Amino acid sequence: MENLVETEVPIPEISDNEVLVKVKAFSINPVDIKTRMGRGQASRLKEYNPMILGWDISGIVSKTGKSVTSFKEGNEVFGMVNFPGHGKAYAEYVAAPESHLALKPFNVSAEESAAASLAALTAWQILKEKFRIEPGYRVLIHSAAGGVGHYAVQMSKHLGAYVIGTASGRNKDFVLGLGASEHIDYEKQPFEDVVKDIDFVLDTMGGDYIDRSLKVLRCGGTIISIPSGASEFVREKAHAKGLNGDTFRVSSNGKDMKEIADLLQLGIVKSYVSEIFGFNEVKAAHRQIESGKTKGKIVVSLP
Ligand SMILES: NC(=O)c1ccc[n+]([C@@H]2O[C@H](COP(=O)([O-])OP(=O)(O)OC[C@H]3O[C@@H](n4cnc5c(N)ncnc54)[C@H](OP(=O)(O)O)[C@@H]3O)[C@@H](O)[C@H]2O)c1
Repeated sequence: MENLVETEVPIPEISDNEVLVKVKAFSINPVDIKTRMGRGQASRLKEYNPMILGWDISGIVSKTGKSVTSFKEGNEVFGMVNFPGHGKAYAEYVAAPESHLALKPFNVSAEESAAASLAALTAWQILKEKFRIEPGYRVLIHSAAGGVGHYAVQMSKHLGAYVIGTASGRNKDFVLGLGASEHIDYEKQPFEDVVKDIDFVLDTMGGDYIDRSLKVLRCGGTIISIPSGASEFVREKAHAKGLNGDTFRVSSNGKDMKEIADLLQLGIVKSYVSEIFGFNEVKAAHRQIESGKTKGKIVVSLP
């Protein structure tokens, strides 16, 4: 944690296709913590000094590059900036490519929209593009109460799936309230003892969750495993059983952010922000994610 320090840097210059965003809120993801610890995106960013963590922002456009056509000064925008790459979101001002952002819905706060960036985009890109959930599919979402999971439950339900979510008992009502039809308390029973005939597993855990999840897939079913490093064998393991498996990495995409903005505006998807931290409390925010017990999302709010 000692390598997480506050420092003064110049306001970033923008290129022709970028906007300068005065940040009102940024969200914290597990990849921030992994990167701080030398994993995650660290190897890609190691030549930057300072390395500025973070990818998820919500804020106000204060300047536009010459070629920018989608936004103008004063627009409220949000999105996941330069992932994979150097997002530099833990800052008062962020230079962001126009193509990574969307207009913030008027009825959603800066905190809720910052939350709905990397985690929501991960869920949406997997469920809409990587796998394509169809109505009636039986879907199992691991860590359904977490950042990615709580969006994935709502989105799967919206796409017409029958959703089963794993979480501890204390998050049962939360997970069912998100639209899951069943909640499995992973502390009380192994999910593979009570679930079967699943079309799709979203694995946020890795490790033995891959082998255990393969047991509950129906013939021809698919698992997508997203924890970095933990899932390199998912493809081979799935294929050995005649199933489909793959890893996935989210990437910045303003068109997908616009779809998420629409889902937020219509109330189809909501961000559950369990805690809001100040800019001087980023270490506490990291400790919260490190607990592995974060409910929904946590966000840092700027004045
Ligand atoms: N590849 C990609 O593009 C990508 C994108 C986003 C995230 N990720 C990765 O995906 C993982 C999840 O990210 P996240 O943002 O959703 O994390 P998170 O918000 O920190 O997840 C916290 C949640 O995990 C739940 N949990 C902990 N142990 C569990 C278990 N054994 N079974 C079921 N639920 C459990 C907790 O629920 P309880 O409190 O009820 O236990 C808590 O709500 C991380 O490894 C992250 O780096 C990858």
